[in-house]
Amino acid sequence: MDTREAQLWHTVKPLLRQGRAWDLVHIKTCIKHAEHVLAAGDIPEELRDCYLPAVMLHDIGWAFMPHEAKAIGAYSQPASREAHMRIGAEKAAQLLKTAGYDEQAIATICTMIGEHDNPYLGKPFRSHYTKYLREIDLLWRVTEENFWKVVKLKQIEPEKLLAKRLQSFTDAIVTPTGQLIFEELERQLEARIMRRERCIKEVV
Ligand SMILES: [Fe+2]
Repeated sequence: MDTREAQLWHTVKPLLRQGRAWDLVHIKTCIKHAEHVLAAGDIPEELRDCYLPAVMLHDIGWAFMPHEAKAIGAYSQPASREAHMRIGAEKAAQLLKTAGYDEQAIATICTMIGEHDNPYLGKPFRSHYTKYLREIDLLWRVTEENFWKVVKLKQIEPEKLLAKRLQSFTDAIVTPTGQLIFEELERQLEARIMRRERCIKEVV
């Protein structure tokens, strides 16, 4: 993170606490993964300055959504998904302007934010850069933090959930480092599932 990104993060962090219960942990995890991808040189040169701000801000829309829309069970509804992307892009534009980003960078970042969940809605991406954000967003789905929460909430067998998760990754991993992170997270979950008794005790 450079100085401007660190300052932006300082502003964004408290807002994320007003989003869904897991948004702050989600974004911190996304930033950690994105920094590895960036450090490995897997992001196109012209996107490098926009990549971390897009990751950091991509779910900021939830902070401005009514409580009912971001509650468990509601946030995956198409209308909520659509609204969090639209509101997120608007709020991100304001935050980025205040942080000193130029118009072109703001347009690139906000396009990515405004369409990052399009695959859930059956819509394509307009920008070919959005796939880099989606990769990071989806890696969250195989982290310990997200996985055991969903096992508990949906009362689903971990093996079944893992199989579903892995299916959704078929076209989502687009960088070599994303692939390495994904394989390591998958290995960790498989090891935990193997030691099932322990996971049940440690569920969030
Ligand atoms: Fe996300």
